Amino acid sequence: MYSATRNVGRRPRYLMRAVTIALAALSLANPGIASSTDEHPSQPRAARWVDSSPSSIELGKATFGLCIGCHGDEATGRIGIGPRIASKSYLAAATDDFLMQTIKGGRIGTAMVPWGAILNDEQIRGLIAYLRSLQPVDQAALDESKLEGDATKGERIFRNICTGCHGRSGAGYQETANGTGIGRRAFLDSATDGFIRYIVGQGKSQTKMRGFGAGNVTAVANLSAQEIDDTIVYLRANAW
Ligand code: HEC
Ligand code: HEC
Repeated sequence: MYSATRNVGRRPRYLMRAVTIALAALSLANPGIASSTDEHPSQPRAARWVDSSPSSIELGKATFGLCIGCHGDEATGRIGIGPRIASKSYLAAATDDFLMQTIKGGRIGTAMVPWGAILNDEQIRGLIAYLRSLQPVDQAALDESKLEGDATKGERIFRNICTGCHGRSGAGYQETANGTGIGRRAFLDSATDGFIRYIVGQGKSQTKMRGFGAGNVTAVANLSAQEIDDTIVYLRANAW
C-alpha cells in the first residue's frame, strides 16, 4: 500500500519529464521549420509569369472548390475564416511568386495549410490564373528600396493603429481579430517590403483594410512613408 502510494506520487514526475522532453523536441524542431523559409525573397522572376490560358483558368476554377469553404465563392473572403483574395489592390501588389509560395507553403500556424502536399504545380498555377481572372488588374510598381526605420516608433504605431484588427501580437484570426496574421513569420517571410508598403499605403480594396498612406482620404490615420517603414521594421524585428 505504501509503495503504491509512492508510485502514484512518482508518476506525474515521469509524465512531466516526458512532457519536458517532448516540448524540447518541439522547440528544436521549430527553428528548423522556420529557417527553411527564412531567406527574404527578392524577385527572381518576372512579377507575372504564370500562364493564364482559358484551360489553366478552368483547372484553377475546379481546384478552387477546395478553397471555397474558407475563402468564399469567387474568393470574396469569409471574415475571420479566410481572407478575400479577389481584391484589386491585393492582386496588383501580389506577384505570382508570392501567391505560389503562399499556396504551396501555406501559412504555418494558421488554418492555411501547405497545399503543395496535396496539389501539383500545374493545379497551383491554375489557381493563380483563376484568382487573377476574378479581378483583372495590372501589376503595381512596388517600392523595393532598402528598408530603414525605427522599431520603437513602429511599435507605437502598431499598438495604436494595427492591433485592433490584427491582434496584439499580430496573430490575426487566432486572436479573434478580423485581419490576418501579419506578425507571423509565415507571412513576413513570403512578403517583400514593397508588397507590405503598398498594402499599408493603399489598403486592401474590398476589405476593411483601408490605406494608411499620407493623403489617403478614407484613412483613419495618415502615415508617412517613413512611419510605414518604421512599422514594417518593427514587424520584421518581432516576427514569430
Ligand atoms: C481551412 C481554411 C482554409 C482553406 C481550405 C484555404 N485557406 Fe487560404 N487562407 C486561410 C487563412 C486563415 C489565411 C490567412 C492566414 C493568415 O495569414 O493569417 C489564408 C491565406 C491565403 C492566401 C493569402 C491571402 C492573404 O490575404 O493573406 C492565399 C493566396 C490563399 N489563402 C489561397 C488559398 C487557396 C488557393 C486555397 C485552396 C487550395 C486555400 N487558400 C484554402 C484559410 C484557408
Ligand atoms: C479596421 C481594421 C484594420 C486596421 C486598423 C488595420 N488592418 Fe490590416 N487588414 C485588415 C483586414 C480586414 C485585412 C484583410 C483580411 C481579409 O482579407 O480577410 C488586412 C490586411 C492587411 C495586410 C495584408 C496581409 C495579408 O495577409 O495579405 C497587411 C500587410 C496589413 N493589413 C497591415 C496592416 C498594418 C501595418 C496596420 C496598421 C498600420 C493595419 N493593417 C491596420 C484590417 C485592418
